[in-house]
Amino acid sequence: MNTSLEAPELKTVSRLLPEFKDMPGGLLPLLHAVQEALGFIPTSAVPLVAEAMNLSRAEVHGVITYYHFFRSKAPGKHVVQVCRAEACQACGGEQLLSDIEQALGCKLHETSADGQFSIEPVYCLGLCASSPAVQIDDKLYARMDTDKLQRVVAELGSPS
Ligand code: FES
Repeated sequence: MNTSLEAPELKTVSRLLPEFKDMPGGLLPLLHAVQEALGFIPTSAVPLVAEAMNLSRAEVHGVITYYHFFRSKAPGKHVVQVCRAEACQACGGEQLLSDIEQALGCKLHETSADGQFSIEPVYCLGLCASSPAVQIDDKLYARMDTDKLQRVVAELGSPS
């Protein structure tokens, strides 16, 4: 564990705790706030969160790992979320994922070697009628295809 790198992250978590520690059901909003602030939930924050929320470390860890939305590692500069739900799967989602992996040089759940892109699954983006759908950072893309993906990647910065 590199505590010198994690210290600022833990300060951020400590700053957020008072807002949520007495809130009924405050764990999920707290975890969302931590991820919003840091981009992920550091493993080293689990004991702090557990103590503040009067939960066991295992309970906090269980919630973080149960919800696919939460990350335990810092993501790449850009996060490519590929819809893995039914409508998108039925409209070429598997091939699209394969094309995205090839274009970005990393697999699902991984980050490209240059730290530019992470690929994550998401389960429905609300664009089922315009499948397959992808979200890149905060922007939604309907009827995503390889050509469109290449254009977006070129705008954001090519992977190494
Ligand atoms: S199934 Fe992919 S957007 Fe709904």
